[in-house]
Order: sequence, then structure tokens, then C-alpha cells
Amino acid sequence: MRTARTIAGVRELLDASRGATTTVGLVATMGALHEGHLSLIEAARADCDIVVLSLFVNPTQFAPDEDLSSYPRDEERDAKLAEDWGVEVLFAPTVEEMYPPGFATSVVVGGDLSARLEGAHRGVQHFAAVATVVTKLLNIVAPDVAYFGQKDAQQALVVKRLVSDLAIPTRIVVCPTVREADGLARSSRNAYLTPAERARAVALSRTLERTAAMIANGERDGVAAAAAARSELAERGVDPEYFDIVDPERLTPVSEIDAPVLVAVAARVGRARLIDNVIATPGSAGAS
Ligand code: PAJ
Repeated sequence: MRTARTIAGVRELLDASRGATTTVGLVATMGALHEGHLSLIEAARADCDIVVLSLFVNPTQFAPDEDLSSYPRDEERDAKLAEDWGVEVLFAPTVEEMYPPGFATSVVVGGDLSARLEGAHRGVQHFAAVATVVTKLLNIVAPDVAYFGQKDAQQALVVKRLVSDLAIPTRIVVCPTVREADGLARSSRNAYLTPAERARAVALSRTLERTAAMIANGERDGVAAAAAARSELAERGVDPEYFDIVDPERLTPVSEIDAPVLVAVAARVGRARLIDNVIATPGSAGAS
């Protein structure tokens, strides 16, 4: 008999006995696949033997006034793309499969991670819904590695926290944001933009870049940098829900910038609610 006293230790013992040699990677999505999703699939293919793509428009993470009913859905197109991109298994459950009658459990990541930024504007129940569905997907697929996008920086932090807190044996990999040629972050919701709105939407990434450049060039005042960014957005015809400079791990506001910060924005452009972010490093301009 062997005794383990740590979670890692007991898993190591069991994994050795199971003899599992195949690694499974999970990319969780709500469909309307685009290059951002593709980048996660490519990362998974590079690391794992089997790539699983989940496609589930999770109704619980949409507030009543949000776009659940109009969210773009085309399973046939997504299935074809997933196959072309080398996905081995597509998991596309129904709502009843994920939330059968009597479903009553919720995973809540407490504190700032769920309450700040998106949580403050969409409500903390948004991240409870995300945390619950992601936990369930991780339990269903039991992946060795799961891939998430930096585009949804707060979501990635929430997922990392719950995986760590609940000792879920999955490694979380966060992949860089994939952008259009002009800088607009790829998003399923970009499909809502009219040509005029599409032109206006570039203000988000432009302003983030400008702010990151200011910080790289020595701006230390987080409040001043955010204020400058908000007026730049206004000049470009965009009224943000928030434009915040926060600690990249804890999401608390930073007034004196002396370490890398997360600069995050959310704004409605026409019917689309867009989010984007960059990591800005103080005094990094000119460093090679
Ligand atoms: P969805 O918006 O479809 O995004 C699926 C994954 O793709 C997320 O990890 C997201 O961060 C990533 N992603 C989206 N746009 C990206 C971009 N431009 N560059 C890089 N990665 C990008 O996020 C969700 O779905 C849901 O909340 C989900 C995690 C599936 C739970 O329902």
C-alpha cells in the first residue's frame, strides 16, 4: 500500500496505475467560431493528442436584457470549421443535457475576481454562471489542458481560480488575443456591427494601445491615464461602460502604476457589447 498526503501525490499514484498516456485538450466555446477560437484549437493541437471542442450557448450567463436569443448560432458551419481545424471531438449538448430538471448547483468564485469590471456591469451572477458551466465541462471532458483567451481576461482569471480552489486536475492555458488587421479583437459579437459601427469599434483597441504606450513611456498615474483614454473614446464616438486600469491578477484599481497593469474596456457599439484589454508595462518603451 502507498499513502499520499497531497492532492498532487494521490493523483500521481492513481495516474501511474491508470496508465493514461493520451492527453486531452479542451476548447470551450459558444460557437460562431472565428480566428480567436482557431488560435485556441491550434494551441491545443500542438500540445495534446485529442482536441475536444465544446459548443454550447450557455443561457445562464446571459442577463435577461442581453443577447441570448440573437446570439449567432450555426452549428453546421461550426461543425465543419471544427473538423477542418483538426478537432477530434465536438461536444454540442442541449440545454436540457447540461441543465436537467432539478439542477440546483452553482460554482461561485467569490471576491473581486467576479465582482469587478464585467461583474460590476453585467452582475456577479454572470461569472457564477460561467464558473458553473466551465466546471461542468471540465468534469465531463476531464481534459489534461483547457485553453482560454486573454480577450476575456477576467473569465480566464475566474477559471484559473476555480480550477485551483477545487483542485480540478486540468492545466489552464491562456492564449493571446487574436485581432483583425486594424486591431479590433475578434469576437462572435462583431457580426452585429454595421459597416459604420465596425469603423467606430476600432476605437477600443486604438485607445488601449495608446494607453499602453503612455504607460510604457512613463505615465504612472492610473487615474489620469484612464481619464485621457475615456476622452479619446468619446472623441471617437464611443461611450465606454468602463475603462479601467487594474491589477492583472486581482483586478483591483491601480492609481500608482509601478508594475504591469491590465487595461480593460467595455463599450456598446450599436447592438454589440464589446470588450477588450491589454497588459501595459510601465517604462517598457525603448526596452528591447
Ligand atoms: P466564447 O465567447 O465563444 O469564447 C470561447 C473562448 O474563445 C474563450 O476562452 C475566449 O476568451 C476565446 N476567445 C474569444 N475571442 C478571442 C480572441 N479574439 N482571441 C483569443 N481568444 C478568444 O467565452 C465563452 O465563449 C464562454 O464564456 C465559455 C467559456 C464557453 C463558457 O460558456
